[in-house]
Amino acid sequence: MNKQPAYAKKSGPLNGHAVVPGDKSISHRSIMFGGLAEGETIISGLLEGEDVLATAEAMRKLGATINKDDDGLWRCYGVGAKGLRESAEIIDMGNSGTSIRLLIGVVSGYAISTFFVGDASLSKRPMNRVMNPLKEMGAEFISRDQGRIPLAVKGAPSLRAIDYVLPVASAQVKSAVLLAGLNASGKTQVTEPAACRDHTENMLRHFDVNIDITKDDEGRRVISLEGGQTLQGCAVDVPADPSSAAFPVVAALLCPDSEVDVFGICYNETRNGIYKTLIEMGADIEILRSYDQGGETVVDMRVRGGKTLQGIDVPADRVPSMIDEFPVLAVAAACAEGTTRMVGLEELRVKESDRLALVAKGLAEAGVELEEGADNLTIHGTGKPLKGGNTVETMHDHRIAMSFLVLGLASDEPMHIDDASPIRTSFPNFISLMRGIGATIEADDAASGNNVLRFEGEL
Ligand code: S3P
Repeated sequence: MNKQPAYAKKSGPLNGHAVVPGDKSISHRSIMFGGLAEGETIISGLLEGEDVLATAEAMRKLGATINKDDDGLWRCYGVGAKGLRESAEIIDMGNSGTSIRLLIGVVSGYAISTFFVGDASLSKRPMNRVMNPLKEMGAEFISRDQGRIPLAVKGAPSLRAIDYVLPVASAQVKSAVLLAGLNASGKTQVTEPAACRDHTENMLRHFDVNIDITKDDEGRRVISLEGGQTLQGCAVDVPADPSSAAFPVVAALLCPDSEVDVFGICYNETRNGIYKTLIEMGADIEILRSYDQGGETVVDMRVRGGKTLQGIDVPADRVPSMIDEFPVLAVAAACAEGTTRMVGLEELRVKESDRLALVAKGLAEAGVELEEGADNLTIHGTGKPLKGGNTVETMHDHRIAMSFLVLGLASDEPMHIDDASPIRTSFPNFISLMRGIGATIEADDAASGNNVLRFEGEL
């Protein structure tokens, strides 16, 4: 796919109502679980980004019927107890780590062979973390080194249940084991070193699966389920994505006199670390309303910009609840006054890109004083606008692309990114939403040839 260079330049005040798309984690799971369930699942508010569409296509290839209807709702008719069908085609997971890791868990429990590929970014990411426990359960794999794709899974109809302590606080690994456990004989149990997003547990319950959640002697969450349970189709109302909302929120905070409302944001305790952190930095974020939407806590918030944020130490135990938000937090920290210390970031090196390296490089080139460690980042802000003016390589990473565009709205010179196209994976209306509240984000003509219209049409 052609690269789509873009830039953002000093903007503001930003004003209005930002309508953020559905949560990516919940969207993936609603399609996957709907595709596995017996009967009909009706999904409203689904994120129609490339990653979720890849999950839908994969579930279709495995036998589920999944369609978007004229009423805007997605309807899944799942395979139910009769189970998944072997896909005659290779399944392309594009850029999506969540799709492939959860689906590897799903297909492991059926007597089928499944072949996965993905894009250049996904091809670098380790799948060992899901393959290891699934091998213990009885699934077989062929892959490149360290479990990199292309990868083949030979599932087993009679998996063994395991008791697994996650080596890293990863919701994807937890989910893969639990989903395989649905087809194992006996009780599958997963212990988390630190609480990570709990959408799989919440949503499996919503699909009528019995699942137990307790704490062990060390206070770690222990999640268990009995094999042989069939999911029942249901209605899912996907709340807005707190990870996506963080981009217009930080943009509004950095542009003086801004006032932006963001409604219906999923405010699950395992996801809201970025908002707690920004508020501790002095951000003017007002929670207007907090309510329940389909079992998730959801909030409406109003964000006012212009107040200089203050550097803080981000607590290490908060990392899992804001694991995807460090690139945009680093942008906020770079514009804050004082030092922000972020620790426990080793997982950032194996996301869609090595986020720690790309953030440090992009910010340093934009004029920020910082120190990058193996698993930490310290940023020294001056409280004054950054120089900017550099071009950031996004390496197929949507959140790197959006973070540096947000930075450009507050830096003296425009910030350029080499490729805006990965934004489609999670936030297809990002450019139009940001323009709608007053941001200047443009296709980079000079670098790419005259591609303004294509850029407008596609993002
Ligand atoms: C996700 C889990 C997280 C997160 C990813 C979505 C999920 O990954 O970074 O964007 O939906 O389960 P890890 O499990 O690798 O931490």
